[in-house]
Amino acid sequence: MTRLKKTYAIPALLIGYMLATPFALSQEARIKIDTDRTIGEVSPLIYGNFLEHLGRAVYGGVYEPDSPRADKDGFRTDVIEAAKELNVSILRYPGGNFVSNYHWKDGVGPVKDRPARMELAWSRLEDNSFGTNEFMQFVRKIGAEPYFSVNMGSGTFEEAQQWVEYTNVADGPYYAELRKKHGFKKPWNIKYWSLGNEMDGFWQIGHLNAEDYVKKAIETAKVMRLTDPSIKLIAAGSSNFRVGSDPMGWNRVVLDEMRNVIDYIAVHMYVGNPNDDYYNFVSTPNLMDQRTQQLRGLIDIAMSKATERGDRDPIYIAWDEWNVWYRARGGAKAVGIHALEEQYDLEDALVVAGFLNTFIRNADIVKIANMAQLVNVIAPIFTNDKGEMFRQTIFYPLKQYAKNAHGTALDVFVDSGTFDTEDFSAGLAESNTRQTDVPYLDVTATHEVDGTVIINVINRHKDNAIGTDIISQSGKFQGPFEVFEVNGPDIKTTNGFDGEPVKSVQKPNISVNGDRFRYAFPAHSFTQLIGRIETD
Ligand code: AHR
Repeated sequence: MTRLKKTYAIPALLIGYMLATPFALSQEARIKIDTDRTIGEVSPLIYGNFLEHLGRAVYGGVYEPDSPRADKDGFRTDVIEAAKELNVSILRYPGGNFVSNYHWKDGVGPVKDRPARMELAWSRLEDNSFGTNEFMQFVRKIGAEPYFSVNMGSGTFEEAQQWVEYTNVADGPYYAELRKKHGFKKPWNIKYWSLGNEMDGFWQIGHLNAEDYVKKAIETAKVMRLTDPSIKLIAAGSSNFRVGSDPMGWNRVVLDEMRNVIDYIAVHMYVGNPNDDYYNFVSTPNLMDQRTQQLRGLIDIAMSKATERGDRDPIYIAWDEWNVWYRARGGAKAVGIHALEEQYDLEDALVVAGFLNTFIRNADIVKIANMAQLVNVIAPIFTNDKGEMFRQTIFYPLKQYAKNAHGTALDVFVDSGTFDTEDFSAGLAESNTRQTDVPYLDVTATHEVDGTVIINVINRHKDNAIGTDIISQSGKFQGPFEVFEVNGPDIKTTNGFDGEPVKSVQKPNISVNGDRFRYAFPAHSFTQLIGRIETD
């Protein structure tokens, strides 16, 4: 049930007009931008994705040597082009749950000699024809930063050390020489490594309790760093909010015990709309914000204890799996070759924009984020075996942010009407933390040194446009402002091989000169405004 609340005070004359008018009038809002009120630098690595050996993500997604679209190395050129258009900044690999039963040595060397293995996380046969070097070739083709996860389930710390030696050591030891023998003369220099995936989860192969995870992860980190001191390490945090679990208890132990070792703590979040409650669903990014604040507190507490981090940065948060995922989450749709093939609609795209706004609003501490995933498996890019490809609805907000929302995140003032829902209202929250009604407009802004300002606005109102005054408090807006809008005929509209009705569309520029302008944000839309602020 959704309770729609407070709108602006409406003069009596207008009320008379409204009563006589069969259609809804726009609501009103204000956004104030102040370039002096800064939050932190937006890390380009928050615009990442994820590639797991699962369903048709690797085979039939990025890699399909028999496809009419394959390049000479077997990679799909249409997927490469779409990933470049998406501006993928960092790509996580090879899992996910998959990594906890993956032995990297199975996936290197001559393909004919690679063993096929039972893959237990997603019940598949893994032929290992795609492995470390194929992934690195792909990641170089799309121009992204690689991010590897090591096997903390069935794997050993020695195996993790040898992987770093294989990928990052130029020459000398056995595994560096082996890479050269495999045809890759130069090291790949992989900087980002996570110490396992969701090791707190009972579903994870080799699942551990927090104390055992910490013990194993510290030893693994030690030998990986001895091999290459320049790597950045990401600990597996907990995102298991099921009844009876204690995710923040796990995170506290990891942060306290590993505070001298890690650079990031990883957390995951998937949301859905199983009860078809639009307002509740589009509010779910608030939950991510809440969990970010909880983690921020735990990081602060850990960092307040004696640390020996030298000149390393403080610990940051990596939301290294996030997305909408619920239709293909259990039963037949979660296994086999077509596992996790969600088809996304417009409301999902609005939720994705909401997650991206959450990262920007927490730009000082969220420094890595990976939409899960990249292609076919809960993904923004979708292919078939006829060589066709389309961009799902969720592709477009991510593309807009990744392309444009850079610089310093600003602390924006927003005054719009609010609503409350089953899970999001004053006083209601999963963990008794403070919770407020949800504003219709979800707004962030970033500011670049050259004066460019980027304003990201989600209008969550299902039916009404919201006429908004946008006010600069620290200088004059200089026109023109470019306008990009992601919208569609209906919140349930999806894209497909036959067309993409939900996409980003460039609207006519707004000419602005002064400290304010007005714009009406259409119902159920994401809008990005790009212009300049002249400060003295
Ligand atoms: O992205 C799909 C799965 O979701 C990943 O394998 C796992 O880490 C998470 O539970």
